Amino acid sequence: MIDIFFEELSSEIQKGITEKGHPFRFITMATVGNGPIARLRTVVLREVSQELVLSIYTDSRTEKIKHIKANNQISFLFYHPEKMLQLKVEGTANIVTDTSRLTATWNNVQPNSRKDYITNNSPGSFIKNPDHVEYLEEENYFTILDIMPTKIEYLKLQRPNHIRAKFTKTSENWKGEFLVP
Ligand SMILES: Cc1cc2nc3c(=O)[nH]c(=O)nc-3n(C[C@H](O)[C@H](O)[C@H](O)COP(=O)(O)O)c2cc1C
Repeated sequence: MIDIFFEELSSEIQKGITEKGHPFRFITMATVGNGPIARLRTVVLREVSQELVLSIYTDSRTEKIKHIKANNQISFLFYHPEKMLQLKVEGTANIVTDTSRLTATWNNVQPNSRKDYITNNSPGSFIKNPDHVEYLEEENYFTILDIMPTKIEYLKLQRPNHIRAKFTKTSENWKGEFLVP
């Protein structure tokens, strides 16, 4: 019976990349690095594999990459307002080094979106005026992060009973347990 909730969450995550306007396209990503406080930011969910490996694109000079190099444990927050469905995903981040995958993906990035990965100065550098951003012509800092989920918590607010369940990845499959909401 708990399996239907895992199937629902998997299908909703997939819709984040296949359905236009789906709220799971934009997710919150948290990293902690070595610091005492979590750093949060919105990212676009770009790829989802059959095994639920979640991929995002970023610039290799960002703080999130520094954090992941120090500590590859991250979490994502998904929220679907119409379904009142929240997913908390914890997982291990891997910085993709496969150059053929990086090149093939980069070639599919829309020309206008390429600007996000080719600023002359690192993202987060101070500038006097927002128009004063220079772009590189030959190089890019395009990076793919693959996140392998290890734990997913499902929470749906509904009447008469809210549903909360925790799914933990074992060596073979996912083990689910209901929790008090
Ligand atoms: C709607 C929206 C979508 C975003 N998508 C991404 C993204 O896919 N990848 C990314 O690196 N940053 C994305 N950002 C910017 C991040 O939220 C963040 O500001 C940036 O990555 C720097 O974060 P960091 O310094 O913590 O690494 C997005 C921001 C917004 C508002």
